[in-house]
Amino acid sequence: MTDPTPEPVIALRGVSIGYTDRAVVHDVDLVVQRGEVVAVLGANGSGKTTLVRGLLGLARILTGEVELLGRPVGARGRSRWHGARIGYVPQRHTVGGTVASTVREVVSSGRLPRLGRVGWMREADRAAVTAAIDAVDLTPWADVDIADLSGGQQRRALIARALASEPEVLIMDEPTAGVDQASQQALARSVARLVELGVTLLIVTHEVGPLAGVVTRAVVVTEGRIAYDGPLKDSMIGAPDGAHDHHVHDPAGGARRPWLRPTIGGR
Ligand SMILES: Nc1ncnc2c1ncn2[C@@H]1O[C@H](COP(=O)(O)OP(=O)(O)OP(=O)(O)O)[C@@H](O)[C@H]1O
Ligand SMILES: [Mg+2]
Repeated sequence: MTDPTPEPVIALRGVSIGYTDRAVVHDVDLVVQRGEVVAVLGANGSGKTTLVRGLLGLARILTGEVELLGRPVGARGRSRWHGARIGYVPQRHTVGGTVASTVREVVSSGRLPRLGRVGWMREADRAAVTAAIDAVDLTPWADVDIADLSGGQQRRALIARALASEPEVLIMDEPTAGVDQASQQALARSVARLVELGVTLLIVTHEVGPLAGVVTRAVVVTEGRIAYDGPLKDSMIGAPDGAHDHHVHDPAGGARRPWLRPTIGGR
């Protein structure tokens, strides 16, 4: 990637985010540079999704400044402008509905922001859709009804949908939650490929495990604040269902995830 004036992909400065007027995320400073792969970790309810929604302009920014790809996000900026340059895979999203659609059709819908005014798919658009499907290892399933796929495969199809617009930054909220082992490995391979393409990634996850090799930085959210921002530590790469470290007691659920109690300021 040749960018003569590198600007942060994501920049939050003194940001509080909330719902109505109640702040859930407090006083966050976070700058993500092009090509970084950031894992956002933290206990349930700590504010990870709110943070992500805020930086996309989908939750209310109460104080501070948010910039995405050098442009302000906020009350006036909402987020529609980002169009194709940002991919977002929301949390707990699988495919519902009764209308049959193939993986290729679903992924093609992610290409819409790139289509010209006429609005139909050209050769390059079809190629981008095919590449996105391949990137998540779903090529053999491309023409299968998405409702027939496993939950993990559906999640991957939604990631491919986000990739179809060839975004510069991809934000995924718990892409591996409740996903089978094979899909977790496939996701890790996809992420590695995206890294090679220079895509910036922000991944909210409870399961760093398969992604440990590609994550360049960890951000831990504790009660709406960034409690740690620095290199991924071994203690953060626990098993998803916490096969170990039961001796750390945390009624909120952190007992199985020792990294939920980070050392503050370990940068
Ligand atoms: N739409 C909403 N309106 C009001 N409060 C909300 C809304 N969404 C989330 N909250 C509150 O904000 C806090 C943080 O929630 P959030 O979903 O950001 O946490 P999280 O870290 O993503 O949790 P999880 O790991 O379970 O996904 C919680 O107290 C939650 O109840
Ligand atoms: Mg969440």
